[in-house]
Amino acid sequence: MEMACHYLYIIDNLLDPSHVARVHLTSFAGAGTDNRPLDLEESEGGVIVSRWIADEPAPPYYAPILPFGPSCDRKQHYECRLPSTAINMSVYTPTGEGGADRPMSPNAFVNISYNFITPVDAETSRYFWFQHRNMHADDAAMSQRMFEGAVIAFNEDKEVLEYVQTGMARRKTGYFNLGLDAGAMRFRARVAKRIAQEAG
Ligand SMILES: [Fe+2]
Repeated sequence: MEMACHYLYIIDNLLDPSHVARVHLTSFAGAGTDNRPLDLEESEGGVIVSRWIADEPAPPYYAPILPFGPSCDRKQHYECRLPSTAINMSVYTPTGEGGADRPMSPNAFVNISYNFITPVDAETSRYFWFQHRNMHADDAAMSQRMFEGAVIAFNEDKEVLEYVQTGMARRKTGYFNLGLDAGAMRFRARVAKRIAQEAG
């Protein structure tokens, strides 16, 4: 996808599990995506922002796919690796089988999207992605439906991020960061440090 925005705005978005509550109302938004506490983890390669949401209905994109429900435990795993690769893992388990303190349930449905963002210039990026899942590998109709749903959702991101690009370019005030920006700010600091090291 062609994105008329700086590549780090796409990364900001991919480290913000809460954006689904506002940007993806018909696909990934669900109870808890706007307000459950986030865990921030740093590794040598990057930053992970994640959270478990216990015992809530699955969102519209996943509800028809899951072999359990309507309520379930959900994990949002948003991981970015320097300089601009993202792994987004959606995990759903039957209620009571999820949680940070438990081993991964054998009943878990897992969908992973891999995102590769390439800067073209300061206002343009190319966004490559694919996704795969751990169930119904041969169900071509499901693959097609999930692909089409993801295209709709990623175009919602595109629309918002292109407004972010023009809005931030014209901003008249300073930045106002929220708690949910912690992962993105950490990642941006790491990118800046890496660029300084390479330049040095
Ligand atoms: Fe998104």
